Amino acid sequence: MIPLTIRTRLTFWYTSIFGGALILFGLLTYFAFSYANNKGVDIELEEEAEGIAYCARISKDSLKDYVACVSKEKDSRSLGKYIAILDQDGNLQFRSGSLADNHLPLTSNQLKKILSGRIYYKTVKSSKGRVLRVITMPVEGDHQLIQMGIAINNNRSPKIFLFALVCLGCVTIIGGWFGGLIMAKKALRPVDNMIKELQKIETEHLGKRLTIAPARDEISKLSEVINEMLSRLENSFNQVRQFTTDASHELRTPIAIMKAGIEVALSRERNICGYQQILADALEDLGRLSKIIENLFVLAKADAGRYEVHKEQMNLYPVIMDIAEQLKLIAEPKNIFVSQEKTEDAFIEGDEQLIRMLLLNLVDNAVKYTPPNGTITLSLSKVNGCAKIVVKDNGAGISPEDIPHIFDRFYRSNNARTANHDGVGLGLSICQWVAKSHHGTLTVESELQNGSSFTVSLPTC
Ligand SMILES: Nc1ncnc2c1ncn2[C@@H]1O[C@H](COP(=O)(O)OP(=O)(O)OP(=O)(O)O)[C@@H](O)[C@H]1O
Ligand SMILES: [Mg+2]
Repeated sequence: MIPLTIRTRLTFWYTSIFGGALILFGLLTYFAFSYANNKGVDIELEEEAEGIAYCARISKDSLKDYVACVSKEKDSRSLGKYIAILDQDGNLQFRSGSLADNHLPLTSNQLKKILSGRIYYKTVKSSKGRVLRVITMPVEGDHQLIQMGIAINNNRSPKIFLFALVCLGCVTIIGGWFGGLIMAKKALRPVDNMIKELQKIETEHLGKRLTIAPARDEISKLSEVINEMLSRLENSFNQVRQFTTDASHELRTPIAIMKAGIEVALSRERNICGYQQILADALEDLGRLSKIIENLFVLAKADAGRYEVHKEQMNLYPVIMDIAEQLKLIAEPKNIFVSQEKTEDAFIEGDEQLIRMLLLNLVDNAVKYTPPNGTITLSLSKVNGCAKIVVKDNGAGISPEDIPHIFDRFYRSNNARTANHDGVGLGLSICQWVAKSHHGTLTVESELQNGSSFTVSLPTC
């Protein structure tokens, strides 16, 4: 089937409904007209038949003269008429008029009904091909029936009327089709305009928006929805651009340092210790580089929804104990005291590898941003159906201006930059994604110079 445009479909439906209504109206009018036309003949027939019946009741002799006289009369419509007197068995007793060779035979059932007072009408075709409207009625008090027929062959009004209706109907339906086309075009003009405006919007200019018509109709609602979608697209495009720029910037720095180190190493001949030192520096830079790439990879996969989270029932208690041990090891060089508070069993549906990644990032930050001889506290408790893990330090803290941004990718506070701490600002973004993917939350409370407290809440099972 050929796919039709909305415009054609609208026009088709409009014309079909309009045409259907018109045909129904035409048919009803035609039937009403035909009925009224027949009714006129019937009334005339009844009046004349009653006159004859009256005459029959008064004097039987004058009846024949009267009948002969009436049957010769011709009105404007009829080609002639016939009058017949029948006995109670339907046998012809007398007939007259220009159509005297016609009379309508009656069944015994019909005879019974007529004799009981009913008037019987019928349209019949005579042997000569004439169409007759025939009335049969009883003569009151007499066991006789009067039958009178009028030829209505020349009654062409209903046919002319029907012809006029068909012609007018066709013209109106054709007119309706073109009218429908114009109407559909007008109705779809805002959609055409929308298409033109959308065609002008390119990925480079996603800031453009559709014009919203003042009328609160479907089109303006559609424009609003498209504008909202464009805003979301623009945001994600900007995020991707920002992510790519930041990522390449962060990768460039360690690579440049490594390159410079190797160039210096090759600039002159050195002893074995010199080369070892340069290789050790390069290895350190490579480690940093591979951590950045690893984090970028996790976030990129998470964004694409391609990171496979393997959740299974797990106890957080042994994981926290393990992380505390690792924390002690990395905190030791800075002589940071690690304390553990109310640690208890807490079962969750989770991916152990990801939960470990989250906690390691938090304790890594705590150690990084806590000065030597500080304290880090780790706790696990169950509150309102959630396992609550808190990583608290008494380190540098975060300023109120930085707090809303620390979960953004590549965001690092000025303090973190100036203090020359390692890192690119991806750790907390990953932590937040892990918490969300476990239907949990990650929140922070911090005060500059007074330490920070990161809380992870995960639903227990
Ligand atoms: N415990 C903390 N104390 C003080 N500031 C913190 C703490 N944790 C995070 N921050 C601030 O939040 C910023 C973002 O942290 P995030 O872990 O995302 O990045 P990073 O640690 O700088 O680098 P990365 O984790 O990618 O190695 C940090 O740069 C730091 O300014
Ligand atoms: Mg970090």
